[in-house]
Amino acid sequence: MTAENDRRPALRQAADAARYAPSIHNTQPWKWTVHPDRLELHAVTDRQLTVQDPDGHMLLLSCGAALHHARLALEAAGWQSRVERPAGDPLAVLYPTEHGEPAPAAVERFEQLKARHTDRRTVRDTPLDAKVLDDLVAATEQEDTRLHLITRDQVIDLAVIVERAQKTETSDERLQQEISEWVGGERTDGTGIPAANLPAGLPLTTVAERDFGQAGTLAAGDGHDTAATYAVLYGTGDEREEWLRAGEALNALWLAATAHGAGLLPLSSPIEVGYTRHELRRIIGDLGAPYLVVRLGNLDDAGVRPAKTPRLPVDQVIDDVAS
Ligand SMILES: Cc1cc2nc3c(=O)[nH]c(=O)nc-3n(C[C@H](O)[C@H](O)[C@H](O)COP(=O)(O)O)c2cc1C
Repeated sequence: MTAENDRRPALRQAADAARYAPSIHNTQPWKWTVHPDRLELHAVTDRQLTVQDPDGHMLLLSCGAALHHARLALEAAGWQSRVERPAGDPLAVLYPTEHGEPAPAAVERFEQLKARHTDRRTVRDTPLDAKVLDDLVAATEQEDTRLHLITRDQVIDLAVIVERAQKTETSDERLQQEISEWVGGERTDGTGIPAANLPAGLPLTTVAERDFGQAGTLAAGDGHDTAATYAVLYGTGDEREEWLRAGEALNALWLAATAHGAGLLPLSSPIEVGYTRHELRRIIGDLGAPYLVVRLGNLDDAGVRPAKTPRLPVDQVIDDVAS
C-alpha cells in the first residue's frame, strides 16, 4: 500500500465525526476499526441496554446514525463511498472509492452534523411549514425508509399508545435500574445523559416525553405540543439491515430538520414495548414495520439551548488495524 493509496487519515476522521452521532441514552454502542482501504463498524454489546432493548433494535438505530455520520464526513472530505452491510460482524463496511472536490451541499450537511442535538424543551407554537415537512419526508426516503406524518385525528391515539408504553416501562424495576445507570449527574465517563439535558419537570404535553425517572436541570419551557408534528419512521421489515438503514434515515431526517432550524425528539418507548409497537402498526395503516416515533417542531432560538452531551474518548471507539 503506497502512501497515496492510504485512506486511513480520511477514515479516521470519519470515525471521529461519528462519535457525535445520537444514540439511545447516549450509550454510543459502536466501535470502528480503521483499515488502509476501509472502515468497519462493529456493535458493542457491552453498551447495549439488555433490559430495555433486548433485541438490539435501539442499538442498531444508533449504529446506523453513526454510520450516516461517517458517510457524510467522507463526502464532505471529497470522497465517494460504497457501503456494505453484511450479515454477522462487522455491521457495516465503508469503502472510499473516488476522490474529488467535495460538493458544497455535502460540506453544508457536515456543518449540520455538528449543530444537531436532542432538545427536550417544548416546541414553539408555530407549526412547521408543509414545504419543510415535504423536505423531511424526502430526506428520510433517500435512505430507503418511510416517514408517516401523524394526522391531527391520530394524535390522541398516539398519546394513549405512548402513555401505555411509558407505564409498562416505569413499572419495570429492572428497566428503571438500567436507565438510572445511564442517566443523571455529570456523566464524567463520557456516556449517558447528564442532568443538564433532562427537564426539571416533565412538560404538560398531549404526547408525553420520556419519563427518565429523575428530574434534571433543563428549563423545558411552559409551551405545549399543539404545534408539534409527530411522525413514525417505518420500513418494510424487521431484519437487522433494515434497522441499520432506519438509523441512517433517522440521522438524515434529523440533519434536514436541523438545516431548517427545527428540532427532533425521538420517542422510543412505544417501539420498545411489544404491544404498543403493534398498535403503532395500525396507526401507519399496516404499511410496514415501525422503527421510531419522533416529535418535530420549531424550537426557541432565543432561549438557552441545552448543553452538548458528552462523548467517549477516541481510543475507546476507534481501533487502528495494522495493514
Ligand atoms: C434510537 C434512539 C432512541 C432515542 N430515544 C429517546 C427517547 O425515547 N427519549 C429521549 O428523550 N431521547 C431519546 N433519544 C435521544 C438520545 O438520548 C440522545 O441522542 C443522546 O443522549 C445524545 O445526545 P444528543 O442527541 O444531544 O447528541 C434517542 C436517540 C436514539 C438514537
